[in-house]
Amino acid sequence: MIAPSILSADFARLADEAAAVAGSDWLHVDVMDAHFVPNLTLGLPVVSSLLKATDIPLDCHLMIEDPARWAPPYAEAGAYNVTFHAEAADDPVAVARDIRAAGAKAGLSIKPNTPIEPYLEILRHFDTLLVMSVEPGFGGQSFMPEVLDKARTARRLVDAGELRLVVEIDGGINDDTIAQAAEAGIDCFVAGSAVYNTDDPGRAVAALRAAAASASPHLTA
Ligand code: DX5
Ligand code: ZN
Repeated sequence: MIAPSILSADFARLADEAAAVAGSDWLHVDVMDAHFVPNLTLGLPVVSSLLKATDIPLDCHLMIEDPARWAPPYAEAGAYNVTFHAEAADDPVAVARDIRAAGAKAGLSIKPNTPIEPYLEILRHFDTLLVMSVEPGFGGQSFMPEVLDKARTARRLVDAGELRLVVEIDGGINDDTIAQAAEAGIDCFVAGSAVYNTDDPGRAVAALRAAAASASPHLTA
């Protein structure tokens, strides 16, 4: 799956920017609160408008403090997947339960320096694991290949039938880096600058999809 990140899109033309990547699996929406990360983007009113403007399922990535309070409304609004950060939640399982009860898939995200082991036990309460491959906050940063060990760990558990999860990666994904992420067992690739900082975002998505598919052992095995 390919999930273009509108963080690198033109925020004054979001409906057109979504249309430019029609056929994408998810549209990735980065919500930042200027507290959990040193940047401020958009919130629920923009997500609500975007839901009316596109048929692509919205993948909301909440880089915010207090997800217990702020995450469920994104599910109630109609987001397909609502991911929040493990580092920001006191009781991640309770937040996941509330997101699911409101009708969305629930995702847990971990920053590059956050180990996966402490969370393995609770991942069965989630639908998505979002492995950050840059420090969250900004688009256009360089991919951190060292996080792929966490993706491999999750992939093994999914393949063994111990977890049912979409394993997603976010940060620095482009034509040069997507193959190694696919080889590590990623299911869903977020790409911002590699899609929107091009002349043809639709073509960029197609190229990423082809590169990922040909390098994905768990798809061809
Ligand atoms: C960063 C965001 C990413 C961002 C990725 O904090 O979570 O979704 O859009 O941008 P690129 O693909 O340019 O690294
Ligand atoms: Zn993101």
